[in-house]
Amino acid sequence: MSPFRITRTLPEDATEAALRADVLHGLTATPKTLPPKWFYDARGSELFEQITGLPEYYPTRAEREILIDRAGDIAAAAGARTLVELGSGSSEKTRHLLDALTGLRVYLPVDVSESALVRAGQALAAERPGLRVHALIADFTRELELPETPGPRLVAFLGGTIGNLLPAERAAFLGAVRAMLAPGDALLLGTDLVKDERVLVRAYDDAAGVTAAFDKNVLAVVNRELGADFDPAAFDHVALWNADDEWIEMRLRSRVAQTVKVPALDLAVDFAAGEELRTEVSAKFRKEGVSAELAAAGLELTRWWTDAAGRFALSLSTVR
Ligand code: SAH
Ligand code: TRP
Repeated sequence: MSPFRITRTLPEDATEAALRADVLHGLTATPKTLPPKWFYDARGSELFEQITGLPEYYPTRAEREILIDRAGDIAAAAGARTLVELGSGSSEKTRHLLDALTGLRVYLPVDVSESALVRAGQALAAERPGLRVHALIADFTRELELPETPGPRLVAFLGGTIGNLLPAERAAFLGAVRAMLAPGDALLLGTDLVKDERVLVRAYDDAAGVTAAFDKNVLAVVNRELGADFDPAAFDHVALWNADDEWIEMRLRSRVAQTVKVPALDLAVDFAAGEELRTEVSAKFRKEGVSAELAAAGLELTRWWTDAAGRFALSLSTVR
């Protein structure tokens, strides 16, 4: 068994302060919003794992297909001795990369979900002697301080999670990733692609209601952490395609006129009947757009792979 370490880069009270600031800002904005990273407490991470196995949710299967087919190419191009994975979650698909990266010494999974990191990190360390697993509880939209590890470094950002950032956040994020890379390092980015609207909407509004439960979990987080009295049953999950921005929007629609109290913020929030709270966007991409966003951050797209059905893409880019 190889060593497993877990480090929290932000103190817990900073996380709590960030949640308060986000909830205060989002619930007093017009229209109301809540930022997506708060979905992922232990229950949220578990619900997301269920989503990845749903018949309607194709992105995980499509990305896994590419990883299985291309892990050898990726490993040959990257030759990494350190793999940093942002928003690593269960690290399940990452196993294909870990298998292919024969010279890998260190795996650094980074996530806000401590439960997901502990579970995935302990399992990998136990299975893979010779691989140092150092998990970081951190917010990848903030400054990331990574430990010194051997290069070259491959930074992976899978799952289409980049689509959950708004365009300005994406630009800032890619700039920060660029700053993490030295010549010879690479970024492996998973992006879901624009496709038939019905396929997209179904992926975010499944028949079994798992995505609805996931969406509503953010209300349970605000209830638990800030003492709010959201009634999840008083909201409906809505997924719609925004064709102008080419993203899926997840919303929670208030079934009735209601007032929700958030004691920790000394706040009472009025919802009109039918009023919607935007919880998440999931942007869908085209190759030209990905390439342009990478270029704007000082990165050059060097490889582009899709699954056979052309639903999802993995790209590799390097410092220009
Ligand atoms: N990479 C996995 C999980 C994707 S779900 C996969 O492809 O299946 C998104 C993951 O990113 C979750 O594990 C969530 O906890 C994490 N996450 C979301 N926002 C984050 C943030 N701001 N900083 C760090 N991790 C974040
Ligand atoms: N990165 C995932 C995606 O955009 C996250 C996700 C999947 C998600 N289903 C969701 C986020 C439902 C919120 C609600 O596909």
